[in-house]
Amino acid sequence: MTTTHPKVELHLHLEGAAPPAFIRGLAAEKRLDLSGIFDEQGNYSFRDFPHFLKVYEAATETLKSPGDYHRLTLAVLEQSAASGVIYTEVFLSPDFCGGGDVAAWRDYLGAIREAAALAEARDGIVLRGIVTAIRHFGPERARRTALCAAETAGDWLVGFGLAGNENICKPKDFAWSFDAAREAGLRLTAHAGEWAGPDSVRDAIRDLRVERIGHGVRAAEDPALVADLAERGIVLEVCPGSNIALGLYPGWSAHPIETLRARGVRVTVSTDDPPFFRTSMRHEYQMLAETFGWDDAVFADLATTAARAAFCDAETRDRILKRLEKAHA
Ligand code: ADE
Ligand code: ZN
Repeated sequence: MTTTHPKVELHLHLEGAAPPAFIRGLAAEKRLDLSGIFDEQGNYSFRDFPHFLKVYEAATETLKSPGDYHRLTLAVLEQSAASGVIYTEVFLSPDFCGGGDVAAWRDYLGAIREAAALAEARDGIVLRGIVTAIRHFGPERARRTALCAAETAGDWLVGFGLAGNENICKPKDFAWSFDAAREAGLRLTAHAGEWAGPDSVRDAIRDLRVERIGHGVRAAEDPALVADLAERGIVLEVCPGSNIALGLYPGWSAHPIETLRARGVRVTVSTDDPPFFRTSMRHEYQMLAETFGWDDAVFADLATTAARAAFCDAETRDRILKRLEKAHA
């Protein structure tokens, strides 16, 4: 079941999903020396979360044209489809795609969408995009990012989010950008409760009015917040393998996903930046089955929760839900 079960992934950073060999290949083509970001086995190498963000940004130095992103999107979706993913939402950053310039961003987005259409025809996997501001680049750059998002909002570009170093700035510093995105019809999510505590989750919900939280696992430290998340139906995009690889929890059995689920929180499962954390959707499912005894019924419920929380239009969501229903029958 963990290998064949159709999966829905809501939290995936496009650059963070780049296979290391793909980035090395681009670096060789462009004569860039990126040897410092890989270990002897050729995997990405980092010490902690701030260093991870540095290595991530160093890898993006190879991605400098719409054509590079076209190739990246095809490589990433091939990897996701091999794990049984049928629908995925991907975080895209105009900061990396054209430096916040709207015309350049349109070109990058066009290339990514074209690759997504090819992958859908090839593997049946459906992709939608969420423009994401990067917190440690500051609120000013986030405004430009939000304008890029608002200009291209529509059937494919469906959401707006916030990633990056959670210990820099507060959610309210990005309220202008989230308001602009909401007015453009985009659905909202923000990383919170990963490196900062339960209050960061409360702040994101109150100040940014998000309907989903990226990670949010630190909410488990506050029973009143857990009850509130359950009651409001806020969806958590939980990435257990990422949290463990980055040292937030010492191992799978210490991860709070099962506690959150048992208390009625709408949890979903994603990989965040899979090659960085040596994971895949298949691996996440395997570890959840092994650690918490999750069975077919739990995994079916997990995928249905994720499909219902997807930011795509109703017709696309129904199509995904029908595929899940058929597989679960
Ligand atoms: N960007 C890529 N991965 C991230 C993570 N886990 N947290 C915050 N920002 C990120
Ligand atoms: Zn993330």
